[in-house]
Amino acid sequence: DSMKIKDALDRPLRDLRISVIDRCNFRCQYCMPAEIFNENFHFLPHNELLSYEEIERVAKIFASLGVEKLRLTGGEPLLRRELPVLIEKLSKIEGINDIGLTTNGVFLKRYAKELKEAGLDRVNISLDSIDDELFKQINGRNIGTKKVMEGITAAKEAGLGIKINMVVKKGLNESQILPMARYCKEEGVQLRYIEFMDVGSTNGWQMDNVVTKKEILQMLESEFELEAVEEDYFGEVAKRYRYIGTDNQVGFITSVSESFCGSCTRARLSANGSLFTCLFNGNGHDLKELLRSDMNDEDLREHLIGWWNHRKDRYSDERIEGKNQNQQKIEMSYIGG
Ligand code: GTP
Ligand code: 5AD
Ligand code: SF4
Ligand code: SF4
Repeated sequence: DSMKIKDALDRPLRDLRISVIDRCNFRCQYCMPAEIFNENFHFLPHNELLSYEEIERVAKIFASLGVEKLRLTGGEPLLRRELPVLIEKLSKIEGINDIGLTTNGVFLKRYAKELKEAGLDRVNISLDSIDDELFKQINGRNIGTKKVMEGITAAKEAGLGIKINMVVKKGLNESQILPMARYCKEEGVQLRYIEFMDVGSTNGWQMDNVVTKKEILQMLESEFELEAVEEDYFGEVAKRYRYIGTDNQVGFITSVSESFCGSCTRARLSANGSLFTCLFNGNGHDLKELLRSDMNDEDLREHLIGWWNHRKDRYSDERIEGKNQNQQKIEMSYIGG
């Protein structure tokens, strides 16, 4: 049986988000702006990424501390070679009952079946626009929506759970709020609207660019009848609504307008092997260094317990309180959201 540990604000440790690579085939302006992530940008060399054996070792220790849920992210995680090999290792770990992948969907047509067979349960696919031209503009790589839609179909056929993530940014894609709702309702997949967040330091975030849950819900209610749905488990990130009379749901990730730090059970492992206790706290713990020393599992475990016990992060709550907003952050492509 695993030991349950709590942080300084009494929050348990339940999920580990693992970024497996800092590269992406897209250049979404709000995440990896092309002017910065260009041909001169220094991406991590392979030996600075954690190996699959190292990730497995970390995940096992985390599972022994109460982690039940793993999520693989990037960058774009499907750019990491032989990802199904990692998933197979992770799915065998005792105590892990849910493995998800957050992806832009472009490579799912090729890998969905293999990923499912390796033990992947679910995919969260990013799609910020249903309009082809706007989508090409947003992803900065002139890739149309067709590739992503084929990915969604492949994930369905493979039997993977699917959610669609749409980051909403004012002046960019509010026009897509209703068309995306119609598309996802039709497809029978859950759409989650994500409030644009101030992750990292390169995405030019301003409060003025945020479209809040309240505003989006108002737009939806002009066309659909919705009712709020109870949360599925402690610390669920999205607030969900059901289209009345159907099984279809829609969700909101309200880090800006209604923060959810009080129930945040997530630890994050960055592509270069640092452990972060908050999406917005750039002071990572260098786990890779410990993994590559001669430290044994028991001592590693003690370090993880200590880090979690000292955790006091509540950045989004503090944003609402107008406090502490100048701290050093980490880029989205290293930490995966
Ligand atoms: P499931 O609910 O398990 O399906 O996954 P998820 O929504 O936690 O993961 P996903 O990678 O799809 O993330 C969706 C959005 O939620 C992204 O914009 C993440 O950055 C954001 N998010 C996830 N966890 C947190 C968190 O702890 N804090 C904040 N502020 N945002 C989060
Ligand atoms: N604010 C909110 N969500 C973001 N994502 C990337 N950057 C941001 C941001 N600044 C989303 C991606 C993906 C998920 C991992 O995080 O679109 O769906
Ligand atoms: Fe790539 Fe996702 Fe970032 Fe877009 S949001 S650049 S798809 S990692
Ligand atoms: Fe957790 Fe930090 Fe997000 Fe709050 S802002 S929910 S503490 S990751």
